[in-house]
Amino acid sequence: MSNLYNPRLHIMDHPLIKHKISMLRRKETNTKDFRQLVSEIALMIGYEATRDLPLEEAEIETPLMKTTGYFLPKQVCLTPILRAGLGMVDAMLTLIPAARVGHIGLYRDPKTFKPVEYYCKLPPDVAERVVIVLDPMLATGGSASAAIGFLKKRGVRLIKLVNIIGAPEGVEVIFREHPDVDIYLGCLDQKLNDHAYILPGLGDAGDRLFGTL
Ligand code: PRP
Ligand code: URA
Repeated sequence: MSNLYNPRLHIMDHPLIKHKISMLRRKETNTKDFRQLVSEIALMIGYEATRDLPLEEAEIETPLMKTTGYFLPKQVCLTPILRAGLGMVDAMLTLIPAARVGHIGLYRDPKTFKPVEYYCKLPPDVAERVVIVLDPMLATGGSASAAIGFLKKRGVRLIKLVNIIGAPEGVEVIFREHPDVDIYLGCLDQKLNDHAYILPGLGDAGDRLFGTL
């Protein structure tokens, strides 16, 4: 059966996300607005992606009485894939201010579309954390799969992948190579073009985010 029905694939179905992704796609959307939209969408997908994080109970006292409070243990590591994943970090830190942030630098070789690694810096206790990998685009899946591979080599056991737009080809690659990972997508698009760009997509996310077109 196609992995597009895999229960680990979570496609957001929310009018605010659909509206904001449509604005993001528009070719007229300028860098400032693009950056703002990426952040707003990341916050909403991040809310869903953190829905099953475990909580620790602790007694607290309100002005009226004692009760049980529920708190997130300090257990999350956000890991943007450079460059474009950086645009999602601040929003995710608004949700989880105590999270650590790792960075994985990868770019796609323009001829082969294969990921080339140029940077990797992760917190020393990353293996004990839930890692949320951030990247606006899941195209061939090569970059996200390589990033997840690095994390697994460092001993990470619980990994979630958060993308704003994904292609069916990328979803298939992630589930084939990493069937234990949950994918959270703002939108599942149609397919890749001959240059491995997502259709209809939004073009090059890193260039649009940083104004390097
Ligand atoms: C883009 C995007 C992903 C990757 C997706 O990055 O942000 O990291 O391509 O493509 P894939 O699924 O086929 O690997 P890019 O390589 O353009 O680097 P950049 O973010 O530095 O622009
Ligand atoms: N990377 C992007 O930024 N956009 C795509 O459509 C594919 C890869």
